[in-house]
Amino acid sequence: MSEKKIILSGIQPSGAMTLGTYLGALKNWATLADEFDCYYMIVDMHAITARQNPAELRKTQLSQLAQYIACGLDPEQNTLFIQSHVPAHAQLGWVLNCYTMFGELSRMTQFKDKSAKNAENINAGLFTYPALQAADILLYQADLVPVGADQKQHVELTRDIALRFNGIYGDVFKLPEPYIPKIGAKIMDLQSPENKMSKSSIADGGCLLILDKPEDIMRAFKRAVTDSETQVRFDAENKPGISNLIQIYSSCTGKTFEETEAEFSGQGYGTFKQSVGEAVVETLRPIREEALKILADKAYLESVYRLGAEKASRQASRTLRKVYKKIGFIEA
Ligand code: TRP
Repeated sequence: MSEKKIILSGIQPSGAMTLGTYLGALKNWATLADEFDCYYMIVDMHAITARQNPAELRKTQLSQLAQYIACGLDPEQNTLFIQSHVPAHAQLGWVLNCYTMFGELSRMTQFKDKSAKNAENINAGLFTYPALQAADILLYQADLVPVGADQKQHVELTRDIALRFNGIYGDVFKLPEPYIPKIGAKIMDLQSPENKMSKSSIADGGCLLILDKPEDIMRAFKRAVTDSETQVRFDAENKPGISNLIQIYSSCTGKTFEETEAEFSGQGYGTFKQSVGEAVVETLRPIREEALKILADKAYLESVYRLGAEKASRQASRTLRKVYKKIGFIEA
């Protein structure tokens, strides 16, 4: 077995991936393969906690896999897989349901948010979602889980579940930690920059997608909300729009905030927005082209997710076997 620390994360196949997901997550994930043993999933089982259109769900997953690869996740160096292809997730998920308390799940802010937004479908899966996520993580004995701040609570719950289980049965699970990258940009909505960029504002131009066309990207930046000053200066509190654009520009060009401020000092917002748009277009262009090329090659995509499932299953079934034995199941 490799000595590298293990990284694991997953993204729900709930539509196209955003510029925020690229700059905040995928771009960083693509740099980790040398140092870590990396597992990245497409969490289809989590996705069905909200009602999905089956044809759309299939399409979204293939597109997501193509985008993972196009964003730099080499399938030879990372384990890229689809959650439902590794049955151990459902199996350990059930076991962990029995070691997760109703009270704990009731305190999850994501559950509260999602049930408030979707009052007609507050299903049991939505409630026990974090126990399945704990299984995702613990099956691979992950050390680090790169997630956005909104998922920190789920990783903390995963630790609590692992501690509880280990307390009864001895050292079965490694305790994971959330890994919130130092520079991992948190990209905000272009129209309402006090909110995180999210797919709910695609229609009004607040959110861009990895696969968006250059002209749509340019239009969105032209319309991006700024403020009534004229200075390109980072001040997240008082100038959230401009600060977000600085963040995006820096993230795409590798320049620091200071360099960016200096570059546009004395120039109007119009010029700056144009340049940010161009930087994003040039960043996403090769990714979009590569993703579309990969997406057209169904046989290749199939070979990637098959290989991923095989590699993931090997690790996952080892942990599951140990768990089953500890809790008193008879080996089949
Ligand atoms: N719950 C995560 C989200 O909504 C997705 C997820 C599922 C995940 N399983 C995971 C993230 C395991 C990290 C590790 O974003």
